[in-house]
Amino acid sequence: VKGGYPSFMAKEIHEQPHAVADTLLGRTDPSGALVLDELRISEAVLRAVDKIVVVACGTAAYAGHVAKYAIEHWCRIPVEVELAHEFRYRDPIVDSRTLVVAISQSGETMDTIMAVRHAREQGATVLAIVNTHGSTIPRESDAVLYTHAGPEVAVASTKAFIAQITACYVLGLYLAQIRGNKFPDELKEILAQLHELPDGIQRVLDAWDEVRDVAVAMKDEPTVLFLGRHVGYPVALEGALKLKELAYIHAEGFAAGELKHGPIALVEEGQPVFVVVPSPRGRDVLHSKVVSNIQEVRARGARTLVIAEDGDEAVVPYADVVFRVPQVPTLLAPLVTVVPLQIFACELAGAKGLDVDQPRNLAKSVTVE
Ligand code: M6R
Repeated sequence: VKGGYPSFMAKEIHEQPHAVADTLLGRTDPSGALVLDELRISEAVLRAVDKIVVVACGTAAYAGHVAKYAIEHWCRIPVEVELAHEFRYRDPIVDSRTLVVAISQSGETMDTIMAVRHAREQGATVLAIVNTHGSTIPRESDAVLYTHAGPEVAVASTKAFIAQITACYVLGLYLAQIRGNKFPDELKEILAQLHELPDGIQRVLDAWDEVRDVAVAMKDEPTVLFLGRHVGYPVALEGALKLKELAYIHAEGFAAGELKHGPIALVEEGQPVFVVVPSPRGRDVLHSKVVSNIQEVRARGARTLVIAEDGDEAVVPYADVVFRVPQVPTLLAPLVTVVPLQIFACELAGAKGLDVDQPRNLAKSVTVE
């Protein structure tokens, strides 16, 4: 059942190129335009949307966090991302022009179900991005955009996360398309590059053993920090969550710009710090800021583990370890930059002799509030 892999998690990480390809499959026409016939929300309603609120928990919420950067950039619609359990118990401002996007692998997370109900009571339109067919969240939503990651067995979400981000990109590009975005060529180009991402992910998977060697050597670390900026920030949060839930190691993810506002006080000699570096071919300032952040923690004794694009030599002088990812547009980078972090957590937990698929105290779907 594990397809020759030592754990379902290892198998599911390897299935990620398919999760992306299958989530894109059948959603474009021969001209390259997106067609989402399944979306039972009229174009008129989608054109009138003036705010998007993503509700989700855990890893699914980090997918939503990535979506915010992409959708705001492509569509110029404000996007809020909120943990479903926080959304539910305040007094959120949503109305008939709000599109609430509920993201969930299982479709059975009670916190997210309650947020969906609350949103609909306020008159919002709810779109579910869900992996499990026939589950509760799609049934209670106005429409569903399924992720096609296939069944995810390991408690730690990996391929579902990658598929959720992919579905969010599809949604963002589709909204931009039907709302008459001014840059149709740019959007077509992004979509074409998205179709190349399965190959890009495969290239990161091919370097599995390099990540494993680093992970095994770090199995006794008491604490690991993760830094990222822009879309690298939710990737840092996800890297930290994976390590906590699988290896029971204290881990924290930060927005790299927050360093000097507090977290840098944690850095002492030998502290491992992962840094997710944006493409140097994107917005220059983003890349150079993160390189400065690496220098800052290194100067205080950190051991830096850097995730950087092929050909990015600027990081080399400040990195103890570099994990390479292929060159992809900045907004699509989470699909490749998260992969070394997943492998790292999986291998480190394995090296500690822990049950990678079934970490203590956790359930695959959290069906109680
Ligand atoms: O099934 P869902 O996507 O709604 O689950 C949400 C979270 O419980 C889930 O992502 C959790 O954080 C995972 N264990 C993370 O690996």
